[in-house]
Amino acid sequence: MNIKEFLSAQFKAAMTQAGIPDSFEPHLAQPKKAGFGDYQANGAMAAAKAMKTNPRALAEQIVANLKLEDIAEKTEIAGPGFINLYLKPEWLTQQLSAALTLPALTVEKTDLPQTVVMDYSAPNLAKEMHVGHLRSTIIGDAMARTMEFLGHKVIRQNHVGDWGTQFGMLIAELEEQQSNANAEIALSDLEVFYQQAKKHFDADEDFANTAREYVVKLQSGDERVLALWQQFREISFSHGEDIYEKLNVTLTRDDVMGESAYNTDLPVVVQDLIDKGMAVEDQGAIVVFLDEFADKDGNPSPVIIRKREGAYLYATTDLSCLRYRVGTLKGDRLMYFIDARQSLHMQQVFTIGRKAGYVPDSVSLEHLGFGTMNGEDGTPFKTRSGGTVKLAQLLDEAVTRARALIEEKNPTLTDAEKDEISRKVGIGAVKYADLSKTRTTDYIFSWNSMLAFEGNTAPYLQYAYTRIRSIFRKADINFEQFHAPITLSEELEKTLTLKLLQLPETLEHVAREAFPHVLCTYLFELTSLFMSFYEACPILKDGIDEPTRNSRLGLSKGVAKTLELGLGLLGIEVMEKM
Ligand code: ARG
Repeated sequence: MNIKEFLSAQFKAAMTQAGIPDSFEPHLAQPKKAGFGDYQANGAMAAAKAMKTNPRALAEQIVANLKLEDIAEKTEIAGPGFINLYLKPEWLTQQLSAALTLPALTVEKTDLPQTVVMDYSAPNLAKEMHVGHLRSTIIGDAMARTMEFLGHKVIRQNHVGDWGTQFGMLIAELEEQQSNANAEIALSDLEVFYQQAKKHFDADEDFANTAREYVVKLQSGDERVLALWQQFREISFSHGEDIYEKLNVTLTRDDVMGESAYNTDLPVVVQDLIDKGMAVEDQGAIVVFLDEFADKDGNPSPVIIRKREGAYLYATTDLSCLRYRVGTLKGDRLMYFIDARQSLHMQQVFTIGRKAGYVPDSVSLEHLGFGTMNGEDGTPFKTRSGGTVKLAQLLDEAVTRARALIEEKNPTLTDAEKDEISRKVGIGAVKYADLSKTRTTDYIFSWNSMLAFEGNTAPYLQYAYTRIRSIFRKADINFEQFHAPITLSEELEKTLTLKLLQLPETLEHVAREAFPHVLCTYLFELTSLFMSFYEACPILKDGIDEPTRNSRLGLSKGVAKTLELGLGLLGIEVMEKM
């Protein structure tokens, strides 16, 4: 139980004792501004309204029933009936001392472990991975790490686009080019390869016919054509793997469960929906009409699941996939990290899945959409000439830019150190810039702001971490082994301690809403507090007594450990020097 949950339970008991019906909650929150206590409970107002009584008087009663003698320094009633709670420094120190001895700091595993199926990254293998897949990959991976850390069973599913009519054209091209060069070379640049194939297709009628024929052969399982497709898929995915490695993303080959995996099940799903009376024939196509998404004239919205010529669609695959994730993988919570523009598609799939009985009520279906990554001009991120930005190039540029900065700030590092640091800083900056923005909104990709050493950026947090490590080096103390009792004398030390103890409730929030930016904000606030503490509370200066020095070192270590853990959950690495 985290502090917030613990205190909420105490407030809840006091509310019951004050005669408040069980349906009312204390609504405990961290106050947004200083001066309103360490936590604020604002549940008295709603309860008083329903009970037709005075909210301040009711708040008094709640306070009178609180049993927090050892925990709270004071409580006060503010405004119309807020209860501000101030925690005792002694209690905070006790909590922190216990927490700091744990290997993973203060965080306990969840009491309610779930099987969480996470759909993220999912590039189309016909083309090179581009910036459009960056957000899904970064956000999904941070969430996967976090959910796993909290004790859930995470099943990663990389729903790659590895099927469809373009593959006919691509393997026809592959076959042609193979007579001249080997496949690896032909496919070394997928973008170029795709354009060549497209040109070929548009200009050469024979080639176009072969391509179409290959689509049919692929579908009927022709061995030679399947082998070519397999080869194409392998090479294309290996490009993706390189990117995952560069990006420090946990996805592997084992997580690939592409569109093609559902092929044999598609007719089964369609038949099932027909049998259930949900799908009907309409002008030769098979369609599910959904009243839930009717237009303003009341016409139900059609979802085509099989075209007139017999082809299946993106939605059909996702329906089959939904059945698999619930039925076979036994997911309790299905999380889809897909561009917000696919929202209607996802809602249609979820609605059909529920109505068809593929998904019991107990299973949570979540489309966790995200906005667009824009350039500094506010329009979708493009190269200077207007093309799509390749992910591989973008990541290389991040490392190069970080290298220039490191070179400037710390020229005395060895080349090997510079390499390692610029990789961690450059990649960390790109990831953090994305993760720190509210998932659902668009954001502007800006090299200068993401690589700044001040502000809510990865380099700022990484730098704070190195700063703490250097304090330990200077004092000649082993960082990993250091442990000392914490004593709080300054207000800033208390604030910092409370902040450290709030990691668990922060992670709980991140997991509940799939909002990694909540963790970023937390780490940034923690770091800023640490910086103020470091200014105000000298550690290694002469005249500081041993217990105070050790306590401050202990707090600093707590901050460093929390940064390492928190950034790690975001998929960002720390280093000892920078
Ligand atoms: N490949 C798709 C795209 O690039 C994303 C797939 C997302 N996952 C899903 N189950 N539909 O747009």
